[in-house]
Amino acid sequence: MKSISLDITKAAQFLQSGAIQAYESKVKAAQEALENGTCPGNDFLGWLHLPSSITPEFLNEVQCVADTLREKCEVIVVAGIGGSYLGARAVIEALGNAFAWLVNDKQNPTILFAGNNIGEDYLSELTEYLRDKRFGVINISKSGTTTETALTFRLLKKQCELQRGKQQAKDVIVAITDAKKGAARTCADKEGYKSFIIPDNVGGRFSVLTPVGLLPIACAGFDIKALVGGAADMEKATGKEVPFEQNIAAQYAAVRNALYNEAGKKIEIMVNYQPKLHFVSEWWKQLFGESEGKEHKGIFPASCDFTTDLHSMGQWIQEGERSIFETVISIEQSNRNLLFPNDEENLDGLNFLAGKHVDEVNKMAELGTRLAHVDGGVPNIRISVPALNEYYIGQLIYFFEIACGISGNVLGVNPFNQPGVEAYKKNMFALLNKPGYEAESKAIQDRLK
Ligand code: PA5
Repeated sequence: MKSISLDITKAAQFLQSGAIQAYESKVKAAQEALENGTCPGNDFLGWLHLPSSITPEFLNEVQCVADTLREKCEVIVVAGIGGSYLGARAVIEALGNAFAWLVNDKQNPTILFAGNNIGEDYLSELTEYLRDKRFGVINISKSGTTTETALTFRLLKKQCELQRGKQQAKDVIVAITDAKKGAARTCADKEGYKSFIIPDNVGGRFSVLTPVGLLPIACAGFDIKALVGGAADMEKATGKEVPFEQNIAAQYAAVRNALYNEAGKKIEIMVNYQPKLHFVSEWWKQLFGESEGKEHKGIFPASCDFTTDLHSMGQWIQEGERSIFETVISIEQSNRNLLFPNDEENLDGLNFLAGKHVDEVNKMAELGTRLAHVDGGVPNIRISVPALNEYYIGQLIYFFEIACGISGNVLGVNPFNQPGVEAYKKNMFALLNKPGYEAESKAIQDRLK
C-alpha cells in the first residue's frame, strides 16, 4: 500500500543549512512528552493511539446506526460546530460527488451541516427545505451546551417531531456527546435517543475518528473501516521510534517551526488544487489555529483553493509581504477520466490541449505555480496524496493530528485547550441576558453607554 509523502526541499532552501535538523531534539522531546503524557494538556491525549485502538465491533456498531439512518432518512442534518462538524464535512466533501446534493441519489442520503452559525436566513431556509423531506438529525456537541448547535437542534427536533410524530422521531435522532454532563446528554437520556460518547480525553478538533466524524461519514456511504485503517497505518509510520528523517509528521512540525522562528514566516497557506478539498483546509485551519494560536504566538493558518484563488489571492502570494509559506496538498491520481476534446475550428486556440487529461493541465498549473511562488520568495511544502479515497484521507487526518500535537509542543503552548474561545461567548451571553450572567450584563451595558 502506498502512503502520503512530504517534500520539504523547496522550504528548506529558504533556511540556513541545518536549520531543520536543529529542531530534531525538540521534536523528539515533544513526541516523547506526548507518548509519556508529560506535556501540557496531557488529559487530552486520547487521540494519540485512537486509530489502532478502534475495534471492529465498535465500527460495526457505528455502521449499524448509520444504516438505520440511511434507511429511514433522505436527508441527515449534522448539527455541530468547530471540531464537532469540520472533520466529518472535510471527509464527506473530499470523497463525495461535488454535485451530490443536486443529484436525486436513491442510494445515499443528502448530508447537510447546521448548528455551525446563527444565520436566521440560513436556518429558516434549512427548515423550509426540510419541510417535505424525511429527515433525521445527528446532534453533536461534546459540552452539550454550545449555543449555535443547541439552538439549531431545538429547531430541528421540534420540526422532526412535527413531521414524523414524537415516537418515530426518536428513531432518527442520534446524540453524540459527553457520557454524563451537558444539555445534549440530558435530552438524549430523557428522550431515549441512541447516543454515542465523545471520550473525555479527546478534544473536539481531534475527534474526527470518534463517532463525531465516523457516524456522519458512514451515513454518507463511505467506508469507515478503510478510513480508520489509513489513520492506523499513519500512526505506525509517525511513531516516536521512527527516525526523524523518515517521520513525515516530525519533519512537517520541524520545518514549520523553523520557518516561523528562523525565517519570520508567520502565515501558512494550505493550498489545494481540487475544490473537493476545501473543507479539508477548513478542518486543518481549526486544528492548527485553535491548537497553536496562544500566548501571542503561533503561525496563522490560512487557506486557498487553486487554481480558483490564483485569480484573487495569487497576486498577493506572488508579490505581497514575504511573511508567508505554502503547504500544498497534491492528489497524485484523479479518480475519474476526462479527456480534453479536439475541435476542428479551434476557435479558442486550445487544440494544443486536445487528448490530454484535465488533470494533466491541472498538474502543470500546480508545477508552474510552485516554481513561480518559490521564485517569488514563498517557501513551499508539498504533501503528496496517492488518491482521494477513505484510506489516504485517514492517513492525512492522523498525519495532521500528530504533526499538530508535536508542533504545538515545540512552539511551547498547550495545543489541547482553547481558552480564547470563551471571550466572545461571555459577552454574547451578557448581551442576551442569559441567567447567571447578571453581573456581566450590567458591566457590558455600562461599557456600551
Ligand atoms: O476543538 C474544539 O474543542 C472546539 O472547536 C469544539 O469542537 C467546538 O467549540 C464545539 O464544541 P462542542 O462540541 O462542545 O459543542
